[in-house]
Amino acid sequence: MLKIVLLGAPGSGKGTQSAKLVEEYGVPQISTGDLLRTAVADQTELGLKAKTAMDAGELVSDDIVVGMIRERLNQPDTENGFILDGFPRSEAQAETLDELLGELDRPLQCVVHLKVDNEEIVQRLMARGRADDNEETIRNRLSVYQEQTQPLVAYYEQQGLLKPVAGVGTVDEIYARIKAALADV
Ligand code: AP5
Repeated sequence: MLKIVLLGAPGSGKGTQSAKLVEEYGVPQISTGDLLRTAVADQTELGLKAKTAMDAGELVSDDIVVGMIRERLNQPDTENGFILDGFPRSEAQAETLDELLGELDRPLQCVVHLKVDNEEIVQRLMARGRADDNEETIRNRLSVYQEQTQPLVAYYEQQGLLKPVAGVGTVDEIYARIKAALADV
């Protein structure tokens, strides 16, 4: 059983570390970014609405994202846990998540906060080259993170759920730190 949020800036390694957690714990990774990219690729109505915000590095509207998360969390493969990657991203989303998990009687165990400085992030993302990995959009994603998502650090600290983890070094070194942080939850 693992019911966690991976919190961190764009490029902090949420997706990379989620893949390792999925392999070890056998619970699904729920990435709102991946769900949205699938909707864009499938050219669904929702995807078409989300695309403009994603291309600009802005947050997609809550009605779209919350609807997707609600549907995903209600699927049976989440009964034994989940790794939330990229959700929540604002205090409003965090409050909605608390409500959703309350309805499902599956409270969060902890929130792992991957800490990486901005210059390392820009280097990583420029090297990757996803559609939204150009320098202008990366800088905007970082500033949106700073304004809207960073306040969640205090939000989860107050709830006693925050586990800060240094997100630099090799993927395996960071994973070992995450495992150590999860050891006492
Ligand atoms: P999303 O897909 O969530 O993107 P992001 O937060 O910008 O995060 P990334 O996927 O870029 O990074 P990551 O932290 O997963 O790092 P990764 O492991 O890939 O969101 C995209 C967009 O969708 C948003 O801008 C927004 O528009 C929308 N959206 C999504 N969720 C939303 C929500 N809840 N509300 C509203 N809108 C939402 O690693 C990055 C790179 O670094 C990779 O190349 C990787 O190989 C490399 N790397 C990883 N670890 C290391 C390491 N230790 N050393 C060196 N390189 C490393």
